[in-house]
Amino acid sequence: MSQNETPLFSALIQHAKKNPVQFHIPGHKKGTGMDPEFREFIGDNALSIDLINIGPLDDLHSPKGIIKEAQDLAAKAFGADHTFFSVQGTSGAIMTMIMTVCGPGDKIIVPRNVHKSVMSAIVFSGAVPIFIHPEIDSKLGISHGITTDSVEKALEQHPDAKGVLVINPTYFGVAADLKKIVEVAHSYDVPVLVDEAHGVHIHFHDELPLSAMQAGADLAATSVHKLGGSMTQSSILNVRDGLVSYKRVQSIISMLTTTSTSYLLLASLDVARRRLVTEGRDLIDRTISLANSLRERINKIDHLYCVGEEILGTKATYNYDPTKLIISIKDLGITGYDVEKWLREKYNIEVELSDLYNLLCLITPGDTQAEGDLLVKALQELSDEFHERAERIHAQVMLPDIPLLALTPRDAFYSETEVIPFSESEGRIIAEFVMVYPPGIPIFIPGEIITAENLRYIQMNVEAGLPVQGPEDDSLKMIRVIKEHKAIR
Ligand SMILES: Cc1ncc(COP(=O)(O)O)c(C=O)c1O
Repeated sequence: MSQNETPLFSALIQHAKKNPVQFHIPGHKKGTGMDPEFREFIGDNALSIDLINIGPLDDLHSPKGIIKEAQDLAAKAFGADHTFFSVQGTSGAIMTMIMTVCGPGDKIIVPRNVHKSVMSAIVFSGAVPIFIHPEIDSKLGISHGITTDSVEKALEQHPDAKGVLVINPTYFGVAADLKKIVEVAHSYDVPVLVDEAHGVHIHFHDELPLSAMQAGADLAATSVHKLGGSMTQSSILNVRDGLVSYKRVQSIISMLTTTSTSYLLLASLDVARRRLVTEGRDLIDRTISLANSLRERINKIDHLYCVGEEILGTKATYNYDPTKLIISIKDLGITGYDVEKWLREKYNIEVELSDLYNLLCLITPGDTQAEGDLLVKALQELSDEFHERAERIHAQVMLPDIPLLALTPRDAFYSETEVIPFSESEGRIIAEFVMVYPPGIPIFIPGEIITAENLRYIQMNVEAGLPVQGPEDDSLKMIRVIKEHKAIR
């Protein structure tokens, strides 16, 4: 079958054209049984292919027909031996990767700045995380990837690990030397699992970092929906034969997936794959040029710095994706969150992410010169407006410490716990997650010892208005910790 074909999408259209009488779910039956305002807005085309796993339409849980054909084409496109479609985002694919290689008590080597889905899978599986310190960029206030040396050291100390997880590239677009990391891990027969949430496009352009499959990794969870043109929540899981069994992957992904899989999401993966293969290189070429020209213009604006290739050269910054505009705003004397709000209110611009010190703007094939020009104009006005303040401020970057792990995340999560005031929790073992979302990287994970410095960092994020998530008490006045048993008198 050729990469120009879309077996899943085409079969859905053919099925809808036959206009079958449907005595099956979804009960809205091509939209006729649904709220008319929503139906009108979404449109009958979309509703006609909002279908379910009836005979002719295959079944994601045991694909043998059109879904298998679409997955096989995707595998070819991404250089994998097998591809699984995920309707539960890359989070679902990441949980599948970890639960495929780890059972209770098994070790997994992971960078500490992982997405919360990695930690959720560690809690579910009962695996023991061996944390690697990511390289911290203290100028920007962000974490990069892990180095080959640190993976080597971790494997020397833990050769019995069941996997090494690498984020490639990071949310900010920075990539490690993945090929080398894979070589090191494979010399111990340890599989490499890649969180490729921010890298679906890198496989399709040779000026971008190597993709997981190009680097020889064993498993890769890839968000097609983020930067590859499919619908939100649709991702893929790529598998290389050898150190992992694709049959085990199929069982685990099926255990974690809804039985009511959305065909809209699945079809959007099928067509995104076709476009990436047939037009991806040209589209990405134009995207890189646009992003590079914007970077150059932003760097001419006072008090702003848009990160470019000068960031490369350390062992953790081996390559980067120039389509991500990391804009350091710390010299303006306001937070990234303040800038995010300012751009929303003054220019109706929404950014991907803000933190205390930066903004992240994504440039994709969906952007044109006009959006880029507006961003530059807005940033120029921002710089002018805060000029006086910027002259007075000498910004200092604060980054949280990595706390000590006293219990495995699973033991902590299921321990006897109590809720105490946040301000009195220093020294206690936390039983819940605390993270800023986006990017969803935990400041605390269950089992870690609470430090004063991290409490202060959380407070700074709350005061800046950044979305701190995770604890049951989202006002962050109270926090759940492991119960301490005092001796009985
Ligand atoms: C690094 C990283 N990994 C995984 C994910 C999860 O991806 P998804 O939202 O598709 O579940 C995200 C989401 O932002 C992420 O930033």
